[in-house]
Amino acid sequence: MGNIEKETKIAILYGGMSSEREVSLRSGKNCHAALQRLGFKNAGLVDVDKNIAQTLVNGGFEVAYNALHGKYGEDGCIQGLLEVLGIPYTGCGVMASAVCMNKEYTKRLLAACGVPLVKSVFIRQGEDVREKTKDLKYPLITKPVSEGSSFGMTKVNSPDELQAAYEEAAKYNPDVLIEEYLTGVSATVGVLEREGKTFATEILELRPKNEWYDYEAKYTKGMTEFILPAQISSEMTQRVKEIAVKAHTAANCSGVSRVDFLIVDPAPLARGGNRDSGRGIPYVLEINTSPGMTDTSDLPAQAAAMGIDYDNLVLLILNSAGLNK
Ligand SMILES: Nc1ncnc2c1ncn2[C@@H]1O[C@H](COP(=O)(O)OP(=O)(O)O)[C@@H](O)[C@H]1O
Ligand SMILES: [Mg+2]
Repeated sequence: MGNIEKETKIAILYGGMSSEREVSLRSGKNCHAALQRLGFKNAGLVDVDKNIAQTLVNGGFEVAYNALHGKYGEDGCIQGLLEVLGIPYTGCGVMASAVCMNKEYTKRLLAACGVPLVKSVFIRQGEDVREKTKDLKYPLITKPVSEGSSFGMTKVNSPDELQAAYEEAAKYNPDVLIEEYLTGVSATVGVLEREGKTFATEILELRPKNEWYDYEAKYTKGMTEFILPAQISSEMTQRVKEIAVKAHTAANCSGVSRVDFLIVDPAPLARGGNRDSGRGIPYVLEINTSPGMTDTSDLPAQAAAMGIDYDNLVLLILNSAGLNK
């Protein structure tokens, strides 16, 4: 669709019906303020509920800016509805959104493209958890396939802890992903598109005070140290950025995504010093197709670190409308 005209009637879709509603309300308000500053006078906030199709049609909206997160907003549902209505929308399309919402299917797709992935198994309801995990090396980590925010995730130190951890994850979704638990650097990198070119932002390193980046570390102030750009070698920085773009492209993402990594190095990690020997492996954990856009979200900070301020980030995302497949 290319550059959007200033008069265009834009619906900023926010709020919604997922567990991430509160975050989306904050993302949406910020995006709205940015669009106002940029001169898009006809951009309005639309809280998404079951009547969304009617609201969009009656309101005469020409473009949708997606600031939703989680279920229905990030998983292909709202994208499908917008396709049916013929309203161009920002960010990823139906297929990329649906695949990336599920960590297992994301991994299957990325595996076929040579993206490094932590060894894992996928457990469907009723399958024998012990039997299926017998070739994995402890410790393990159990994850619901389609949750965010480290919900339902448990580190499993020994086989006798496995069943309880599996059941905890299965509360959220009957399909569970079990990975080998690896020690490394947690990092996340944004992927954006400008004039047909896909590029990675600066890499944000998350150094949790807890053992890993769990729910408490994510949402308690002071429980995680944010390091931007990540303290990794320039070679590793380059590789992480290349793999982020590769993952984004392989999953057929468009406009924007944020790829989470676990960088594992065979050499011991020295806190504060050079944190990798350049021989490590940057494993992709997941792709987020509708990254947070609040004041404290990762993507705005990552973009700012490479000279793209908040308003310009919103403009880049807006101009991705209609380019998704
Ligand atoms: N296999 C693993 N080994 C060690 N830590 C992990 C592993 N998988 C995830 N983590 C930690 O948990 C965090 C959240 O994992 P992620 O797969 O991104 O799920 P979420 O959807 O909850 O963000 C990661 O940033 C990382 O710190
Ligand atoms: Mg994550």
